[in-house]
Amino acid sequence: FQKLNKNYEKTTNPISNVTILGNGVMGKGIIWLFSKYAKEVRIKVRKVEQVQGILKDVAKIYDFLTKQRKMTQSEVDLKLNKISYTQHFDGLKSTQFAIEAIIEDEKAKKETYAKLEEKLNKHAIIATNTSSISINTLSSELKNKENFIGVHFFNPVNMMPLVEVIPSKETSKETINKTMELLISCGKTPIIVGDCAGFIVNRILLPYLNEAAVILEKNPDIKHIDKVIKDFGMPMGPFTLADTVGIDIGYKVAHILNESYGRRMPIASLLTKIYKDLKLLGKKSNEGFYTYKGDKKEVNK
Ligand code: NAI
Repeated sequence: FQKLNKNYEKTTNPISNVTILGNGVMGKGIIWLFSKYAKEVRIKVRKVEQVQGILKDVAKIYDFLTKQRKMTQSEVDLKLNKISYTQHFDGLKSTQFAIEAIIEDEKAKKETYAKLEEKLNKHAIIATNTSSISINTLSSELKNKENFIGVHFFNPVNMMPLVEVIPSKETSKETINKTMELLISCGKTPIIVGDCAGFIVNRILLPYLNEAAVILEKNPDIKHIDKVIKDFGMPMGPFTLADTVGIDIGYKVAHILNESYGRRMPIASLLTKIYKDLKLLGKKSNEGFYTYKGDKKEVNK
């Protein structure tokens, strides 16, 4: 992989036309990224009524640039106005790169790829933003396996430079080169990593978040634990991070890693309780380890 990371080659036909499927926390961040870097952007929505809300949330991500006077509001509006949408996988013939950021579920993702393969040009790349499912597993039923690749962005997409790029054993060199070139053209730091459940970052991060939940069961002081870890030098504490990632995503990823690695990756009973019994999702539902009201963040009692 070190060789691949250094030696990816510039392509003759770089990607300028992208489609994003899934418009939750990550999908919106990815829409923002590609619109900011002047790619032609199409989004796949489940209901047309969602479009205005999605664009409003993407506009909010642009706020940090307008506040710093790096962009004017009319430049932002121009970018947002260029984003097109489809409800039924239409108008994808000119898409060169389709990235999926839907729910972390193998079956739902595979169904999406099957529909995409029917509609895309046969050279188009299909990428997945999965956090934890192996790329070889996700590509197993595809017709054009050479066009499939993992492109794992981190949350929030506008702040986090790293992107894990994960080829399967059948991904072509051309797909790798084009993907690396696209990500670099959008100011990201793509690093090619090997395929396995959780790749590198989440294999390390999930046991850390899990252990924080185990500590919390014995020592119920969320703020204290978050502060200790922040003072240790992490950008945020584990409970703030879990709320940012989403408790649902954390729970699903924990399960996938537990299935793959067994006892080495246990699932804290507190995580199951918060997600399954209390049905809290973290920041996106304004309630997780903390509650969120406007700018106010308080420990959830
Ligand atoms: P989210 O819950 O915010 O959004 C999920 C999206 O999937 C929504 O647009 C929802 O309408 C759609 N969806 C749900 N069920 C579907 C189905 N059956 N078919 C098609 N679409 C469906 O989730 P989030 O956080 O944006 O995660 C999306 C993907 O990105 C997941 O694979 C996750 O593992 C991955 N990811 C998440 C990160 C995070 O910090 N939240 C970081 C990096 C990757």
